[in-house]
Amino acid sequence: MVSTPKRARRPAHPLPIRLMHWTGVYAMACMILSGLVIYNASPLLPFSFPRWAGLGGWLGGALAWHLSAMWLLFADGAAYLIYGFMSGHFRRDLHPPTVPELALDIRDALKFRLAHRIGHYNAVQRLLYAGIVVVMIVAVLTGLSIWKPVQFGWLTGLFGGYPIARGIHLTMMLLIVAFIVLHVTLVVLYPRTLVSMVVNVAAEQDEAP
Ligand code: HEM
Repeated sequence: MVSTPKRARRPAHPLPIRLMHWTGVYAMACMILSGLVIYNASPLLPFSFPRWAGLGGWLGGALAWHLSAMWLLFADGAAYLIYGFMSGHFRRDLHPPTVPELALDIRDALKFRLAHRIGHYNAVQRLLYAGIVVVMIVAVLTGLSIWKPVQFGWLTGLFGGYPIARGIHLTMMLLIVAFIVLHVTLVVLYPRTLVSMVVNVAAEQDEAP
C-alpha cells in the first residue's frame, strides 16, 4: 500500500524572516541610539536627549556608528524586500487589509478580543508591518539626502530641501519609536509570538477545512 505523504506544516516565520528581523532590530537599535547623539549636536526641537542614552559618546563616534549600522540596515532591508516579493510572503501574509477588515479588527482590539493565530497576521498587524516598511524606506531616503546633500541633491530637492528632509528624517525616527513601543506591547500581550520569531514553530492551522 502506498501512503500519501503528509503535507509538512509551514513554519510560522521562515528562517530567513527570523534572521532578517533580528538583524534589522540590532541595526535599527544602533541607528536610533547613535541618532540621539547626532541630534543632540544640533537639536531641532527644544530639548536634548540624556548623554547616557546615546551610542557613540560624541558626535564623531555617533556618526561612525550611524553610518556603519546604516549599511547593515540597508542590506538587511533590501534582502527582506527581495525575499518578501520573490517568496510570495508579502502577497500571502502581508497583503493590504480592506477597510471593513480593518474596522472589524480595530473594534476587536479596542475590546481586547483581537484573535491571533501564530503564523497569521490580522488586519491591524498587516497595516502596521506594511506601514513600518514604508516609514523605514522614507527614513533611509531622507537619511541619504541629508548625508550627501550634494551628490544626492536631486533627492534632497525632492524632499523640499535640506531642513525639510532633516525634519522628515526625525519624524520617521519618532514614528519608528512609536511603532516599537506598540509592537513590543503586543508581543508582551501575546508572548507565544516571541517564541515563534526565535525558533521554528509551525503556523497554526487555518480555520477553513
Ligand atoms: C526595529 C524594531 C522592529 C521592527 C522594525 C520590527 C518589525 C517587524 C515586522 C515588519 C514584522 C513582520 C515580519 C514578517 O513576517 O515579514 C515583525 C514581527 C515580529 N516582531 Fe518585530 N520589529 C521590531 C522589533 C521587535 C522587538 C524588539 C521584538 C521583541 C520584543 C519583536 C518581536 C516580533 C515578533 C514576536 C514578531 C512576530 C509577530 C507575530 O507572529 O504575530 N520585534 N516585526
